[in-house]
Amino acid sequence: MRARILGPCRTPRWGMSFVAALLVIWLVPVQAASFEDPLPPLPPVRLDVPYVPTPQGVVRRMLEMADVQPDDYLVDLGSGDGRIVISAVRDWQVKRAHGIDLDPVRVSEARANARLAGIEDRVTFEEGDLFEKDFSEATVLTMFLLPRVNLRLLPVIQETLAPGTRVVSHAFDMGAWEPDYREMVEGNYVYLWIVPARVAGDWRVTTEEGDEFTLTLYQTHQAIHGSAVKPGRVFTLEETLLRGDQIRFSIDGQKYAGRIDGDTMQALDDDGVVKSWHARRF
Ligand SMILES: C[S@@+](CC[C@H](N)C(=O)[O-])C[C@H]1O[C@@H](n2cnc3c(N)ncnc32)[C@H](O)[C@@H]1O
Repeated sequence: MRARILGPCRTPRWGMSFVAALLVIWLVPVQAASFEDPLPPLPPVRLDVPYVPTPQGVVRRMLEMADVQPDDYLVDLGSGDGRIVISAVRDWQVKRAHGIDLDPVRVSEARANARLAGIEDRVTFEEGDLFEKDFSEATVLTMFLLPRVNLRLLPVIQETLAPGTRVVSHAFDMGAWEPDYREMVEGNYVYLWIVPARVAGDWRVTTEEGDEFTLTLYQTHQAIHGSAVKPGRVFTLEETLLRGDQIRFSIDGQKYAGRIDGDTMQALDDDGVVKSWHARRF
């Protein structure tokens, strides 16, 4: 009888252990989740290019080829651990440099590296998709991406960056846009392009003597050709060259050198060229 009354209230020794074990299983993960991992993990970012750092020797040559100067603003698209941005500022005294990377881990790493280098006040690293960012202020653009990414960037580069901006790519070219220079460095090509001014169209040229003629220019990237229509005669332009915002050509043996600024051209004061002319697009 006594046994029957006390029976339901007594928990056998194995039962106590079982309840304790359940409590541990239930409580421990809850505590761990609330103190160590308050938010569910973010889904992994979908990168257009995997992370592979550029060897330091190649970084140095890229910056030499771009002829970086203290007053440049360098932007590295897909900046990884920040090495190109940091090297530009630390080793080449570039006043300002910026990196864009989609991977938050890389951005934190780059910021930490900038702090270690003691230059965190002159560099910025931004998390985001390079295809959604405005980098039109860059005077030097560096990248180590992939061919299809470069090709998507090509029109953005040519339409938004100022003529004369240097673009340097490690390992991958930009299809039909021939580089202005390329060099094999540590087993891969490094490519340099100078963003060309947009010169295609018809221009009215006026010389110091008051002569006027029409210049018609055709352009594929930095390659130009065209003709000059003078009273009674058409001349094919020779020795044509477009580099950034500077243009050169010769008409019937006379050399012209000019600087393009939007819809106008002004003569450059070089030796052996026609002085004092200007042109306006029409
Ligand atoms: C080959 S690594 C180059 C890293 C660095 N520029 C270098 O040369 O050492 C390419 C970088 O691009 C980043 N990336 C990939 N897709 C991207 C995107 N859509 N927008 C921005 N960064 C991206 C990757 O996270 C990676 O850090």
